[in-house]
Amino acid sequence: MSAIANAATSRRSFLLGAAGVLATGRLPKASAQSSKTAREFTLTAAKGRTPLVRAQPETDVWCYDGIVPGPLIRARQGETIRIIVENRLGEDTTVHWHGIRLPLAMDGVPSISQPPIAPGQRFTYEFTPPDAGTFWYHPHADSLQQLGRGLAGAFIVEEPEPVAVDREVVWMLTDWRLTTEAQIASGFGNGMDAAMSGRVGNTVTLNGIVSDEEPVGAGERIRLRLINSSLARIMALRFQGHRPLIVAIDGQPCDPHEPDGGRVLLGPAMRIDVVLDMHGEPGRRYKVIDDFYDGLAYWLTELAYDDKPPLRAHILDPPLTLPRNPVPDPDLTTAQMHELRLQGGMMGGGGMAGMGGMSNAVWAINGRSMTGDGHAEMTPLLALTLGRSYVLTLRNDTAWWHPIHLHGHSFRVLSRNGRAVPSRQWADTVLVPPKQAVEVAFVADNPGDWMLHCHVTDHQVSGMMAVLRIA
Ligand code: C2O
Ligand code: CU
Repeated sequence: MSAIANAATSRRSFLLGAAGVLATGRLPKASAQSSKTAREFTLTAAKGRTPLVRAQPETDVWCYDGIVPGPLIRARQGETIRIIVENRLGEDTTVHWHGIRLPLAMDGVPSISQPPIAPGQRFTYEFTPPDAGTFWYHPHADSLQQLGRGLAGAFIVEEPEPVAVDREVVWMLTDWRLTTEAQIASGFGNGMDAAMSGRVGNTVTLNGIVSDEEPVGAGERIRLRLINSSLARIMALRFQGHRPLIVAIDGQPCDPHEPDGGRVLLGPAMRIDVVLDMHGEPGRRYKVIDDFYDGLAYWLTELAYDDKPPLRAHILDPPLTLPRNPVPDPDLTTAQMHELRLQGGMMGGGGMAGMGGMSNAVWAINGRSMTGDGHAEMTPLLALTLGRSYVLTLRNDTAWWHPIHLHGHSFRVLSRNGRAVPSRQWADTVLVPPKQAVEVAFVADNPGDWMLHCHVTDHQVSGMMAVLRIA
């Protein structure tokens, strides 16, 4: 397997050590210890330095276990895991296990789930992931800086039976706003970013480094797990000469389908698993292009074929649908409906949209703004009945895109602007385009006060956040 023999990897080999040599991509894995009751990991959040851009000075970052992204955590579906998080930062932190359906006390929201982890302190997370799929973890405290300075990692939950692909690759894609010396630019949370698209940067890394190429072999079938861990950048990936097939969204299997227009759309915090059949020519290179923002297209990397003859003569049949996770199906005949209007932000002309008399907050949901990362006394926007089915209409009254994330649940994406969404799509973070409406449905089966917020971090911390109480 040639996945490790590339320049990017050797540049980082001092960080990866032997752990980088894995059939599962080149993210170093967290080392696990088995105890009687749970598989155990440790994660230490601290300052570090890492080479994000080749031929540039190393970048000062905040990171887990000294690396960007943090160690890849792999668990098996239904297996209890324990993660001891140690905080060696100069400020409070927590860890949120994004997309994993777990008890509120393990969800990492400060004050609502747990007291924040103070500098020098530890906190032990323990939970049993019910769903297989692609997830990730990140802090839920001082989120703009902590995520924006590098604290994030991939979290993979394996299916009980291996999926029929030749290999699996994880691409954690992260946008950074860097200075010319490759240092993280200051100015987190400035009013311009907050009221507009959020802190979109100028450098996108693939597994922690700007990538020239990713090695592939002709004929192989790859399961590529894409994770957008950016603060604000939305991505639309095109794979030149290839036809990715989407098999899972936010960890939840869907009917395999090609993305609209051949572009894989990934808002912040979203994950998409694609199956890629490598039917390019040996020795050739194919660009992977992100052209989400008009006039700002760039190439993320190139798929670089080795010279070996194709692994197989014929393309495989379409992949089998992944096994479904035990997510309850909402009952749409009895579901209660609620509308959540996403409001605020700068309009083209400089005014605030639909916000009649707001003060420091720039965003709101149904006229109410909650700011920050989670704190005590957050009054629920909605009170939901445990076990009941709900349909939420996310109506975007603003001029900006919002990836809306609900904690503790996965929801079925029913429709966009009244048109049914095909392919049985589930998500925990759904991208709502400007002036559009998306309907999602879920069973409120997890008791607690759950966050619902935009995952453009600037929008979240400046008001586009709410709490749904399920009891
Ligand atoms: Cu990725 Cu409130 O979370
Ligand atoms: Cu937003």
